[in-house]
Amino acid sequence: MSTPRTPGAPRPTDGQRPTLADATRGRLLFGGDYNPEQWPEQVWQDDVRLMREAGVTSVTVGVFSWSRLEPRPGERNFGWLDRLLDLLHDNGVGVVLATPTASPPPWLGRLHPETLPRDADGHVEWWGGRQHFSPSSTTYRRHAAAITEDLAARYARHPALTMWHINNEYCTYDHGDEAAAAFRRWLRERYRTLDALNDAWGTAFWGQEHDSWDGVLPPRRTHYLKNPAQVLDFRRFTSDMLLECFTAERDIVTRHTPHLPVTTNFMPLWEGQDAWRWAAEEDVVSVDLYPDPRDPLAGARHGALVQDLTRSQARGPWMLMEQAASAVNWRGVNHPKPRGLNRLWSLQAVARGADAVCSFQWRQSRQGAEKFHSAMLGHAGERGRTFQEVKRIGADLARLAPHVTGTAVPAGIAVLHDWHSWWASDQEARPSTRFGLPDLLHAWHRALMEAHLTTDFAHPEHDLSGYRLVVVPQLYLLTDAAIDNLLAYVRRGGTLVSGFHTGVADRDDRIRPGGMDARLRELFGIRVLHEWWPLETGETVACAGFTGTLWSEEIEPADPDETIPYEGGELDGLPAVLRRGRAWYVSTLPEPAALRSLLTRIAADAGVHPVLAGLPPTVEAVRRGELLFLLNHGGAPVTVAVPGTHTDLLTGTAVTGEVALGRHGAAVLRP
Ligand code: GAL
Repeated sequence: MSTPRTPGAPRPTDGQRPTLADATRGRLLFGGDYNPEQWPEQVWQDDVRLMREAGVTSVTVGVFSWSRLEPRPGERNFGWLDRLLDLLHDNGVGVVLATPTASPPPWLGRLHPETLPRDADGHVEWWGGRQHFSPSSTTYRRHAAAITEDLAARYARHPALTMWHINNEYCTYDHGDEAAAAFRRWLRERYRTLDALNDAWGTAFWGQEHDSWDGVLPPRRTHYLKNPAQVLDFRRFTSDMLLECFTAERDIVTRHTPHLPVTTNFMPLWEGQDAWRWAAEEDVVSVDLYPDPRDPLAGARHGALVQDLTRSQARGPWMLMEQAASAVNWRGVNHPKPRGLNRLWSLQAVARGADAVCSFQWRQSRQGAEKFHSAMLGHAGERGRTFQEVKRIGADLARLAPHVTGTAVPAGIAVLHDWHSWWASDQEARPSTRFGLPDLLHAWHRALMEAHLTTDFAHPEHDLSGYRLVVVPQLYLLTDAAIDNLLAYVRRGGTLVSGFHTGVADRDDRIRPGGMDARLRELFGIRVLHEWWPLETGETVACAGFTGTLWSEEIEPADPDETIPYEGGELDGLPAVLRRGRAWYVSTLPEPAALRSLLTRIAADAGVHPVLAGLPPTVEAVRRGELLFLLNHGGAPVTVAVPGTHTDLLTGTAVTGEVALGRHGAAVLRP
């Protein structure tokens, strides 16, 4: 079992490992998942012809091909993949080769039912979909390693190969017997003694004290509320089990191709993996992103958040592994992307640091679970609007590549996020289940984005000294090390803004004395935190100058330098917002405009200013390297004032003083 490292700490081999630049080689990767085992091989010729036409530089192959590669236990069927890689190489398309281990063949589950995961109710997840594997299963791991080994040995020297893609969207949980045994091993390593486990889990109450390791289980179905510390540890354990699966396959392919980078694709803002820890184990950080095109502005906000988080995990250029060229097929109503939106969101990813813009998938399926999910080449074919737009994106990216690949996105602000805090807070029996951490992350990030303040994300134990402003939407659980880090950050001149219900629990989800860490209370000027007053959905609380939502707190202040009070109601006159020195505490969620103006003011005081002044509300502005990206997420054309003369790299024309952006239009300006 791997020993935990500080989240985000670099891999021991850092500096020697290949990076995304080793795969892009000066180009922006553009393409997508290519699953041509669905087609007769004649179609492949058409595929590569159209890939060339669209400027596709990279495809991801083999993600779900295990049953084709190993039709019966131990057999190998590589001929089709040989022909495919040769064909792609002959047509100038690089290959990101996936290990197929996200979808084991039916024979694995049939012959080895213990490889199938069980949910908390004991129900088996059968084959017939995908991701039906238990990350704790030694049999699964053995078979996954064997196919990975043979795949890596066979294609290590293939000239088309540019990168490895391990598995796909690791996301399974298993509550079965093998997982229980592995959980016990993991817990023994963490706690050493049963007494320490009992203490960390607070089993003294509710009659839960364990007398033997054999009685320790995953959080299976219970009659009443589960033990929250057990649930928290099970989430930690599951993330670690999945990570072991990843690193095992990574190490196999790395042995064969030490010069090639390795990635696995995250789901956007996904709860199941501690992505800080995972990212530190990857050469390339990649993410899948599917905002709902029904609301282009909300979609852009979601995209920006996920992109900032991914860039921060990558600490540099990252890969958009998947997006949809148009509609997905797993929402209640699946809206296609209106004209221009696929291009706009692709450019947004580049603006926020992506050096690879790829889609799921190249050609739309005619059968199977996602036959209604769009593709770069949809059912409408090469004359279809979607493909025409894909060609335009390919041309845009080719134009941008020489100016943008490898460049950084400067940010003076860090938003803090931690999976362990999320896992501890997202549980039953809490003060309010009316919202979740993602709602708060979105609200705070939205305020910063709409203020045109570019932000990174960071872990609360990261070095924050490079940021003038640190924003904590909510960190319910904070380790002692994280608290020390925040205090030191403010002591050294940083500005900190914290949202409510932060610093409440320690690493075991034990409530800190006083309901909030004493040092943090002192930092913010809080003498007593009397009560949390969560609000109902739609309920608001009046504050001087704005309206609060979701939450409020009954705080007795201790010498703050500044406060904004609640007005009326139970909390009348008590502080809703407190400032002591450069530390701010916001005990409600201000409505969007209020949070935006509060953060604009705090950022300005901290010396962080918007990317560009006077932007129309629908326009996003991001600097990357020497370039200024202007993206109009609105449905109507706008004009943006831009001082000086620039070249718009998308059109090749000179722009002086102002630039016109059409509906969902974009400009990429170079001084
Ligand atoms: C992703 C997944 C792809 C495909 C896509 C579209 O989550 O990795 O394989 O299913 O969604 O739904």
